[in-house]
Amino acid sequence: MKFLKILVFFIAIQMSAQQGGMWIPSLLQGMNENDMQSLGSKLTAADIYSVNASSLKDAVVHFNGGCTAEVISPEGLLLTNHHCGFGQIQSHSSLENDYLKDGFWASTLADELPNNGLYVEFIVRIEDVTQQVLEGVTETMTDREKQSKIGSNSAKIERETKKEDWQGTKIKAFYKGNQYFLFVTERYDDIRLVGAPPSSIGKFGSDTDNWVWPRHTGDFSLFRIYANKQNQPAKYSKDNVPFKPKHFLPIGIDGISEDDFTMVFGFPGTTDEYLPAIAIAQTVEKINPKTIAIREAALKVIDANMKADDQIRIQYASKQARIANAWKKWIGENLGIKKSGAIAKRKDLESEFTKALETKKLLETYGHILPELERLYNAIEETAVKRRMFIEAFTGTSELMQLMFRLTQVENAAMSSDADFERLRTNVLSAMDGLYKNMNLEVDKGIYLAVMPFYTTNIDASIYEKTAFKTLETGKKLLEGTSKEVLEKLNNDAAYQYAKVFVNDFYNNIEPVFRDINPKINALEQQYMKALMMVLPNQRYFPDANGTLRVTYGKVKGYEPRDAVYYEPITYLDGVMEKYVPGDYEFDVPQKLQELYAKKDYGPYADATGKLPVCFIGTNHTTGGNSGSPAIDAYGNLVGLNFDRVWEGTMSDMYYDPEICRNIMVDVRYVLFIIDKYAGAKHLINEMKLVRNKGKK
Ligand code: ARG
Ligand code: GLU
Repeated sequence: MKFLKILVFFIAIQMSAQQGGMWIPSLLQGMNENDMQSLGSKLTAADIYSVNASSLKDAVVHFNGGCTAEVISPEGLLLTNHHCGFGQIQSHSSLENDYLKDGFWASTLADELPNNGLYVEFIVRIEDVTQQVLEGVTETMTDREKQSKIGSNSAKIERETKKEDWQGTKIKAFYKGNQYFLFVTERYDDIRLVGAPPSSIGKFGSDTDNWVWPRHTGDFSLFRIYANKQNQPAKYSKDNVPFKPKHFLPIGIDGISEDDFTMVFGFPGTTDEYLPAIAIAQTVEKINPKTIAIREAALKVIDANMKADDQIRIQYASKQARIANAWKKWIGENLGIKKSGAIAKRKDLESEFTKALETKKLLETYGHILPELERLYNAIEETAVKRRMFIEAFTGTSELMQLMFRLTQVENAAMSSDADFERLRTNVLSAMDGLYKNMNLEVDKGIYLAVMPFYTTNIDASIYEKTAFKTLETGKKLLEGTSKEVLEKLNNDAAYQYAKVFVNDFYNNIEPVFRDINPKINALEQQYMKALMMVLPNQRYFPDANGTLRVTYGKVKGYEPRDAVYYEPITYLDGVMEKYVPGDYEFDVPQKLQELYAKKDYGPYADATGKLPVCFIGTNHTTGGNSGSPAIDAYGNLVGLNFDRVWEGTMSDMYYDPEICRNIMVDVRYVLFIIDKYAGAKHLINEMKLVRNKGKK
């Protein structure tokens, strides 16, 4: 009987540990630590995050502010996704040295390629500063007064934080502004490209397989952190040396099996797990269909041109990937929200909330929140849709339009001061180099013609002939002179005249409505979060992702995408060969990889049955930004590299369903196999620490 009780208790923890969540690494003690151990982890909270001793967190970095990477050698070697290093790989590529197509492997330190602008950031420590941030903030203040007080308090805390000269600070809001944390950071700016597989491995399956399981992508690339001789951050210099980390991840070469514990440690970007039902409905019914359609139109043009011309393929690689990635995600998200009944379930939660308010006699204090949110979401709907479409049309697709949008900001700056004008002009001029390097005017015109009808009936292809910005030289020339001269020339330019009308409309008619309603929504959502946690205290609440370091954990597990179909949790090299389509732009397989497969020449990287694992899935709750995050086993070894989620679970940013939400990881054995057997870069393997038997002592 007693045993049964313990068993039931144990199963209950295991179940709750499978509910998702992205947790704050400095607060794992207690519930999260117990959860993790119930799932098989042997790690303590202090093994994962500690301020005084080295811990796993010292091996994890925010990669260029968008992805995650981890240190995997005492020489500062960094592992991240191929798609996270994609922009850098592209920037070093040309028709002669096509690293996108053929891959790149530095054979010595001297061959590693510097990357202007690329940086990584470590988290030195995390502190709860809620009290100090909210000091003097009172209920009677207006939202604007509150924000201003929070701002000045935060600035004061950052000024007074004890830190080294080379360290930085930031304060971030959690639980919709009910809690605040301070992060002391350390940023390194000399990050060099060390290795990347060809896209036929690193991007195998491309858009067809993106967001989809079963998956067979070797989505990884290697970089290295360089530091000055004191091991401190420094701008790029020939004299910099490989960085010596406080901790690097050993690699668990035994890999994983089904049901093994895994945790994913990284920098998830944004989630909206506590949105009211009305807001989910708005995203799914009003916003997603439009953004999907506009991107589909842009992609049609880009894809056709990339296939037809290698130069364009290289130029548009990153842009295409960025546009296609969210496009496909939104399609999956809409399907998932429908299939999981997320909106109805969120409505159930809302009724439960209202009932609890009733029971606890709190209707008077909090009863207005949901109806008021409903009213505000309805009020903002039209504006929200238009605003999103403006962003797509004028900042995310046609680059001529994007440039014109930036130039309107130069004009605005000129209104305020010559110094502001000068600063923005310099910014635009330097951005133009990169823009024109990767733009083809005919392709851009095609994109413009495809995209603009989703925004307006006023289409004018002739602006592409008339504008000075059809070449870099004439564009730069136009921007020469005093602010008065530049503004005059700009306002005579056909493309500028065209775009300015829409930009003005945006600032005069769209933004003001948005800026009026949106802060009200935010303020109410903060109250809602607070009230939810108070009146339904038995639910588990984790803070929405906000680009800060988080831990999520679960198990290696398959799932049932639909009736009578079960997806196994691990894929193998055999599956790569099953998908192989000779010469195909998505599913070609390099000759060398075919040979290794034919000979089963897997070195020490095959599993116990002699097969080579490629990818696996787990119940870790991840989102965009978790790309490149390490998947860590029960003993603190690296066993995989997070890079995606499964199609049926892409709605997890708004509604996490543990039955069908899975994250996708590259198996570290595949990474090692590609580095060693495919690329012959044994020297990189030698830098790492490979452990067998989980490194158990
Ligand atoms: N879906 C993954 C993520 O959200 C991978 C994207 C890279 N692959 C691609 N085909 N765009 O970033
Ligand atoms: N590929 C995503 C990224 O770049 C991670 C996948 C996801 O959104 O879960 O961060």
